[in-house]
Amino acid sequence: MQNNLFIAFEGIDGCGKSTQVKLLAENLIKEGHKIYSTCEPTTSPTGTLIRNIFKHQGEADNRTIAALFVADRLDHLLNKTDGIIKKMEEGYTVITDRYYFSSYAYHGAHMPQAWVIEANALCAGLLRPDINIYIDLLPEISMARLNKGRDFIELYESAENLKNVRDKYFEAFELLKPQENIFITDGNRPAEIIAIDFYNEISKLT
Ligand code: ADP
Ligand code: TYD
Repeated sequence: MQNNLFIAFEGIDGCGKSTQVKLLAENLIKEGHKIYSTCEPTTSPTGTLIRNIFKHQGEADNRTIAALFVADRLDHLLNKTDGIIKKMEEGYTVITDRYYFSSYAYHGAHMPQAWVIEANALCAGLLRPDINIYIDLLPEISMARLNKGRDFIELYESAENLKNVRDKYFEAFELLKPQENIFITDGNRPAEIIAIDFYNEISKLT
């Protein structure tokens, strides 16, 4: 890979992001690329606070959660130890499980999406993904996957909420397609087949 890339994976809970981040990282590492995989919410103090709220170990208004994600994302970018910008400068291709489109979709479902986009403008100004990969899956299917693998359900994980979130993703894609590179794929196929799609798409960028 000549130039290192910033790749963001997006989609509703349970659509297969973690699985695909792992497969893509493995494929690129095999070819000798330097890969740094990361996710949001992060493991920073702000990210930990968010995760606790999601596990119902605390409570916050949806608008407060939206603002916490902005703070978490800025730290994700700017952290001097392992921030995304530092990793990019060191020549890593960075793959993140969720970035600002998650905020547009999840918080846009509870408050004006325009506010969420504006609140994240600093992040978009700092670093825009070379590609936003959206794994599309119907909420009924993702909920069935999540219910199989877990003994508790997090804050935003209901079929009804995820339906709104999916709609908001598509609203944001439509609005921002002039300035964002968005690749949408069908997540209701075997993981190994989906992985080939991404690998081919990313190869075009290098
Ligand atoms: P996310 O990170 O988007 O929440 P995961 O990758 O953790 O999604 O996948 C959620 C569940 O669905 C896991 O149990 C995983 O093994 C399963 N899964 C992932 N990809 C697929 C797929 N393409 N087809 C069927 N099940 C899948
Ligand atoms: P995650 O751990 O990626 O969950 P999953 O693997 O099931 O997709 O994300 C946790 C939750 O955080 C998920 O419900 C989406 C939510 N979220 C937001 O609400 N706003 C955001 O900006 C981000 C990045 C995530």
